[in-house]
Amino acid sequence: MDKLIVTGGNRLDGEIRISGAKNAALPILAATLLAQEPVTICNVPHLHDVTTTMELLGRMGISLVVDERLNIEVDTSTIKNFYAPYELVKTMRASILVLGPLLSRFGEAHVSMPGGCAIGQRPVNIHLDGLKAMGADIRVENGYIIARAERLKGAKIFLEIVSVTATENLMMAATLARGTTVIENAAREPEVEDVAKCLIAMGAKITGAGSSTITIEGVEKLGGAVHRIVPDRIETATYLVAGAVTGGRVKARDTDPKLLEVVLQKLEEAGAEISTGEDWIELDMGGRRPKAVNIHTAPYPAMPTDMQAQFMVLNAVADGASRVVESVFENRFMHVQELLRLGSEIELEGNTALINGVPGLQGAPVMATDLRASACLVLAGLVARGETHISRIYHIDRGYECIEEKLQLLGANIKRVLDRSAV
Ligand code: UD1
Repeated sequence: MDKLIVTGGNRLDGEIRISGAKNAALPILAATLLAQEPVTICNVPHLHDVTTTMELLGRMGISLVVDERLNIEVDTSTIKNFYAPYELVKTMRASILVLGPLLSRFGEAHVSMPGGCAIGQRPVNIHLDGLKAMGADIRVENGYIIARAERLKGAKIFLEIVSVTATENLMMAATLARGTTVIENAAREPEVEDVAKCLIAMGAKITGAGSSTITIEGVEKLGGAVHRIVPDRIETATYLVAGAVTGGRVKARDTDPKLLEVVLQKLEEAGAEISTGEDWIELDMGGRRPKAVNIHTAPYPAMPTDMQAQFMVLNAVADGASRVVESVFENRFMHVQELLRLGSEIELEGNTALINGVPGLQGAPVMATDLRASACLVLAGLVARGETHISRIYHIDRGYECIEEKLQLLGANIKRVLDRSAV
């Protein structure tokens, strides 16, 4: 197993390219199951979760061709089974995204139930209830969701909780259903909109994606398309926060400032100078220490829960006291224990973290518990005095393309080594 060693103290300064969004790439790869002709996906990030999704499709007999620019062509004409096995689903919950497309196109799906995960219970009841409302017969047997349907039928579905992947699963399923489906209280995340764009390019009839009411008029079949994945707003924001905590300057290219309004507002409140263009964002902290900012996570367009851990680091070293409220997942403060080991002052009260900013952190061995927590520990390592050794970093490769290379480009002192204690 690898670990990262970060030697803190360098002020970041430079420019990096932002990758395609993980959270759009995964559902869009699943959406290709609906198409009767090849679909080409461009700007796919090189991530472990993408590899897992490709393996999932490959095991169904689907042909995937990756070219030298990492565009992926998916051809489902060779599909042999409709099965998502436990050993893949347990490593990536987003595997549940194949359920809607498989059921809708082939009338059958066997998908392992995802288990719990480090950040909370994360059930899939909303996915299943929505598919049942569309006429699916769903049972859970021996840990597997067994779903069948002659042909799904359009339905009016109100999501009890705003769920990103449930919105995507149901929207994908509805594209081939008989009649019209209306999803109310839908997730408005830009990645949901990107999935809809790809489906529309394949021939689907969808309106309202990106708002809380999505209407899908079912069609008989979907065909081929070429689609470019939207930039990763969480990756963008993570590097901007890295710039802010080190007092530095970071320019993120090939991104979209319109996807990051609340994040940029918070960074300005923390004292950063932000400039933007059509497809770039530059943050300049001018050597200043950030000011503490209150954070309250909620579904888009509010502050993303996927940025909560990174803003916790900013507040940990900021001037002043702040509170961070996590309202999306019930157990997403695992990184706090690790930040305490680096010398931060944070108290937890239920879903709220009360932070008293300290002038500096000290390096220590820490352990990553989930994807965004890993990013937070890397950011903390960038400001901490001395070396921070971060183990269990396989989480980070699930969601950040070449993180140490990108940070090195910005002037960080970070390296990946074999963790002998974990072998
Ligand atoms: C997606 C993102 C993840 C992000 C999260 C919230 C992908 C691949 N992952 O995850 O990075 O952190 O959105 O922005 O896009 N819930 C239920 N029942 C369900 C489904 C969800 O109770 O059937 C609850 C969850 O436990 C959670 C809340 O709904 O408390 C929101 O979760 P959801 O939006 O579904 O997260 P994911 O789609 O899994």
